[in-house]
Order: sequence, then structure tokens, then C-alpha cells
Amino acid sequence: MDILIGLQWGDEGKGKFIDLIGRDYDIIARFNGGANAGHSIYYQGNKITLKLVPSGIFCPHIKNLIGTGVVIDPVAFKAEIEELAHIIPRQDLIDRILISKKSHLVLPTYRYWDIYMEHSPVYRTIGTTKNGIAPSYSNKILRQNLRVGDIYSDNFKDDTYKILNRQYTELQLLGQDMPALEELYADFLKGCNFLKQLAITDTEIFLNQALHDSKKVLAEGAQATLLDIDHGSYSYPTSSNTIAAAACVSLGVSPKLVNKIYGVTKAYCTRVGHGIFPTEITDQIADELREKGGEFGSNTKRPRRVGWLDLPALKYAIMLNGVTDLVLTKADILSGMSEVPVCTAYEINSETRDLTAPTSVDDSVRPVWKFLDGWDFPFSKINQQSQVPKELKLFISFLEEELKIPVKYLSTGPQREELIILGN
Ligand code: GDP
Ligand code: IMO
Ligand code: MG
Repeated sequence: MDILIGLQWGDEGKGKFIDLIGRDYDIIARFNGGANAGHSIYYQGNKITLKLVPSGIFCPHIKNLIGTGVVIDPVAFKAEIEELAHIIPRQDLIDRILISKKSHLVLPTYRYWDIYMEHSPVYRTIGTTKNGIAPSYSNKILRQNLRVGDIYSDNFKDDTYKILNRQYTELQLLGQDMPALEELYADFLKGCNFLKQLAITDTEIFLNQALHDSKKVLAEGAQATLLDIDHGSYSYPTSSNTIAAAACVSLGVSPKLVNKIYGVTKAYCTRVGHGIFPTEITDQIADELREKGGEFGSNTKRPRRVGWLDLPALKYAIMLNGVTDLVLTKADILSGMSEVPVCTAYEINSETRDLTAPTSVDDSVRPVWKFLDGWDFPFSKINQQSQVPKELKLFISFLEEELKIPVKYLSTGPQREELIILGN
């Protein structure tokens, strides 16, 4: 099994990369998060954003699996499939998606807990996607949640109503606005009935059997390393483990069976939501970069915060994941700049550190900058290594020296074929 993860704060271009290299795989298996993800793929000239559906869906031979560690909102999932059914035959979608029986359901009240906590002065505001992700994982850990496999149980409707009713009453007491309980309940049951058309199964057995039969499996990460609940920048991460190791837990595959680990990084940084961002810029260049890079949430449309490439954090992410294949995206967005700043170390209380978790630093951290020559080139004309502009080649060599790992793939644009495999 190979694993693909993001190395920054999300939106590195994971979806686009999987859409292309996924062709070499038989199964793409999403392992974490929920409808908070937004993985953009261009298909027949249209930009499609996948939230819960794995990014192998546009390759007809690929089975797309949703693992145990994912939290599934049946209402959001149904809406996503209905949307995709305009471009992929509905039956094909249904036949090519498998869901773990043990993955947890996102109940409709979780979304309102998320909204309530974001707006209430007694809670810390995270800047979440308001998809009910933290309440879903919390209720999983509290052992008060329902799982996808439960939808077949005779008690499912009663159990759902009990939880919804309790949470709804609590939220009402707190003054949270919500649609009527009966409406939320009915929509949720409709979503759950919809799920029954798909294969809801022991995905870990399916995957292990497939691996035994020499099928190729790629585990798809959502969010990214610096949003990991344990190793990311707490108190503002997401609520799941996002790093490569989490793929084994979620999918029930032994670490012995892992081969490649693809890590995706942009040539600069972005972050949506609150939290530490040592290389953030907020000037006019930030606005230009945001516009040119289309740095607005794929899912929430919020403007993404932008900043320069952060090597101490990237080294940390490469270390945590054991990246074997580094993927560099969006260097085309930096085209036209006379010089490109890169943070090579942090100065923290007059100490210099070149490998640090941004989670363990605060706003007093001062980036140490190196300015590399910029490049100016029409990227749409590049489709082989020899055409990569000299300055970008030097930028890549600099990264490789610092990171001690080769950049294997250079993404040159958002479209499927805009990718160059870099070799010696
Ligand atoms: P993901 O969440 O990691 O899949 O990334 P998103 O889809 O949320 O955000 C990445 C955005 O950048 C999408 O709009 C992609 O279409 C786009 N994209 C991906 N790779 C490249 C690239 O190399 N160059 C440019 N210009 N856009 C890219
Ligand atoms: P993909 O898979 C970027 C961020 C949110 C917020 C924090 C917690 O497209 O890279 P949550 O809703 O998860 O409780 O929000 O995590 N976040 C993402 N940022 N890309 C994502 O996914 C994200 N998923 C969550 O903005 O700061
Ligand atoms: Mg995204």
C-alpha cells in the first residue's frame, strides 16, 4: 500500500495529484476527516470539489473506499453523489464506492454544535469548516456515537432519535438556531437510506485481501500534517490524525505493507482558519498571491491566509511521515516574481532552529529568510523536465539539499496532465 498526505495546512493539491497518479492503482482509500475536505479535480473542463468521495472516482477502473477513520455525514454524502451523478453514471458511482461498517456517522446536531462553539464566547474559536467534525470525533471517543454499520440495526431509528433529541434540547437551551428537529431527523434518515445502496462492508478485510491478491492500493489523506490532532498546531488543528501512520489505523492495514509515501507541498504556504503561521504575509503581495493562486477554500470559499515556504515545518512534516516521494505544486503561481523568499530556520529567543514543529512555537518566532532568484515562464508550455526554467531548477535543487529528499514530481497547473516527473 502507498500513502499520500499533505505536508502543510491542507489544500496542497492532493486531489489533483491523485487524479493523475491514481490511474496506476486499483483502489483509492480515504483514511481520515470528513466533509471538511475539499479536493479539487478538473474533469472534462469543469472543476469538481470532492469532500467525502475519494479522488479516484474519475478513473473508471478504480474502486474508491472510505475507511473506518472517516466521519460520514450521510446528508452531505448524498448531495455529493447526486452532484457527481450529473457527470458519472449513478450506478457506476454506487458500484465503485465502498464504505467501512465501522466509520462513524456525523449526526445533524454535530454541525450545530460546531457552529455554536465557533460563535460562543465561552469556547475557543478555531475557524472550523462547520461540518461537525470535532463533535463527531468527540462523540466517537466518548462512545456515544452511531456508526455506518448501525443503519441496518432494528434500533437505529430509535437510537438516532434519542441522541438527536438530547442534543437538540441542549442546543436549544443554549439558544442555538436550528431547523425543526423532525426535519433534521427525516433528512438524516433519508441520507442513511441512501447509503444502503452502497457496499457497506468490512473494508479492512476487503483491503487486506486485495493486497494479498497484488492489487495496488493508495491511501488518500485529507487535511494535512500541520493540522494533525496530535502533531499539528494545537489548539487549532482538525480533529483527526492526518499523518501517514493514521492510514494504517484507519484502514486496518499493517505498517509492514506500506511502500511509498507521497508528500505534497506547495511552493508557498496557505492556511484557512486560526492558528500559528510563522511565514504568513498580509501585505499587497499576499492579496496578489491569493488571487493568482485562487487561494479561497475549495469547500468554504473563505480566503486562505498565505505566506512563504516554511522549511523548518516542511522538514518536520517529512520526518513525521517518512516521505519517499515529494510532490511540489503551484510553483507556476510564483512565476513573475524577481525573487522568492523561503524561510530556512526559526529564531526563537535568540536560538536558531531549522527543524521545528510550528505547534511548539508562538507568535514571537522570527523566520530566517533566504531569497532565491525568481522565474518567469508560461507554465502552460512546459511538459517535460528540460523545459523547466533554470531558476526553478535551482529552487528545486535548493529544496532537495535542505530537505535531504528529491522532488520527484512537479505539478505545473491545476489540470490532470499538468505534471512532470523529475528524474536524474
Ligand atoms: P487539496 O485539498 O490538497 O486536494 O487541494 P485543493 O483542491 O483544496 O486546493 C488546491 C488548488 O490548487 C485547487 O484549486 C487545484 O485545482 C489547484 N492546483 C493543484 N495543483 C496546482 C498547480 O500545480 N498549479 C496551479 N496553478 N494550481 C494547482
Ligand atoms: P483538505 O483535505 C484546509 C482546517 C479548518 C480549520 C481546522 C479545523 O481540502 O486539505 P475542522 O472543520 O476540520 O474542524 O476545522 O482545520 N481544515 C482544512 N484546511 N484544507 C482542509 O482539507 C481542511 N480541513 C480542515 O479550516 O482551520
Ligand atoms: Mg482542499
